Amino acid sequence: MKIGFGCDHAGVELKLALMEFLKEMGHECVDYGNYDPNDRADDYPEFGRKVGEAIMRGEVEKGVLICGTGVGISLAANKIPGIRACVCSEPYSARLSVQHNNANIISLGARVVGRELAKDIVAAFFNAEFEGERHARRVQMITDIEETYSIHPKD
Ligand code: RB5
Repeated sequence: MKIGFGCDHAGVELKLALMEFLKEMGHECVDYGNYDPNDRADDYPEFGRKVGEAIMRGEVEKGVLICGTGVGISLAANKIPGIRACVCSEPYSARLSVQHNNANIISLGARVVGRELAKDIVAAFFNAEFEGERHARRVQMITDIEETYSIHPKD
């Protein structure tokens, strides 16, 4: 699978480790920045947006986002229609976020989880498949909310 990665300065180190890990699992990884852990003036919404938009354009299928907590960067990505980004700190939620919620982004807190736990979390996420059926109806209900409150720019 082609996976997009994004992080702020807090997540650069963990991002590189997870990219290597997922490449070993046979995935293709695309890095949308930030690239510099010392650039503390960067802003996490920029990278959440980049990865979300890349998924929306079909450039990558799914994404991994990392900031200090995983929260801010996931909030930014979740503003993009069609994005379901979930912050997970253990593998059980990561697996269920795909099986039940059809999540297309996993978000991690580099200041919350250690590197080895983060590997288990992304492995659970990328090895899981959406189960559809009753879950599809519920995910559609989420999409309906999104569509109700979306402002569609005129072309
Ligand atoms: C940056 O210090 C920090 O606020 C950010 O990485 C993230 O945790 C925000 O949600």
